[in-house]
Amino acid sequence: MAHVLVIGASSGIGREVVTAALKAGHSVRAFSRSASKSFTPTDHLETWDGDARIESDVDSALEGVAVVVQALGVPVSELFQPVDLFSKATRVLVDAMQRHNIKQLIAVTGFGAGDCRNAIGLIQSIPFRLMLGRAYDDKDVQERIIKQSNLDWTIVRPGVLTNSPHSGRYRVLYEPREWRNGIISRADVADFIVGAINNDEMIGKEPVLVW
Ligand SMILES: NC(=O)c1ccc[n+]([C@@H]2O[C@H](COP(=O)([O-])OP(=O)(O)OC[C@H]3O[C@@H](n4cnc5c(N)ncnc54)[C@H](OP(=O)(O)O)[C@@H]3O)[C@@H](O)[C@H]2O)c1
Repeated sequence: MAHVLVIGASSGIGREVVTAALKAGHSVRAFSRSASKSFTPTDHLETWDGDARIESDVDSALEGVAVVVQALGVPVSELFQPVDLFSKATRVLVDAMQRHNIKQLIAVTGFGAGDCRNAIGLIQSIPFRLMLGRAYDDKDVQERIIKQSNLDWTIVRPGVLTNSPHSGRYRVLYEPREWRNGIISRADVADFIVGAINNDEMIGKEPVLVW
């Protein structure tokens, strides 16, 4: 069982990862700016208020953990402004993990980020770029920082997210020729992430997840 730091733990995929990781028997440190307002701590769940862009916040949160899950997101209202959360927080995190000699990083980006940008169809790419262009340009940088590191990384690229319950029936598309968009629940993304903890087979993988 691992001691897992979840960055972006208070909502969405991160929150689902906290629940699924605890259920699987891991110990969790839940990190976000509002973590202490979002969870009641237990023997296996610790809350950690901090900003993922601030080196000292991340540095202290890494103390004693073995695995990091990064599941940051920006609110829809901020998608039309310049976005640098993903690149900034990832630069800070990767450098801090290297200092602490923590190897495993599982990071959520999304379908259309990095190498899988070309998998977006021509028609879909126009609204995609209009709505998500700034965020995904920054996710491209995020992926690049991760891939250039010497960490044991896994990049997780879900399709369109829903809040449906865990189904366990989702597709993990590893091969670029298979990559396509689709929907998937946050709980199923969390299921994949928790399965990747301490799983050497997932190192260096960058799958698209869809139903
Ligand atoms: N929506 C979709 O259909 C879709 C599809 C594919 C991929 N994605 C990606 O999936 C990821 C997760 O999305 P989601 O909707 O499940 O999550 P979300 O609800 O957007 O949650 C984002 C989390 O990040 C935390 N956070 C934001 N800024 C932070 C900061 N500076 N420091 C620390 N924590 C911070 C938030 O907590 P605090 O505010 O408390 O800090 C929150 O816990 C995102 O990267 C999103 O782009 C989304």
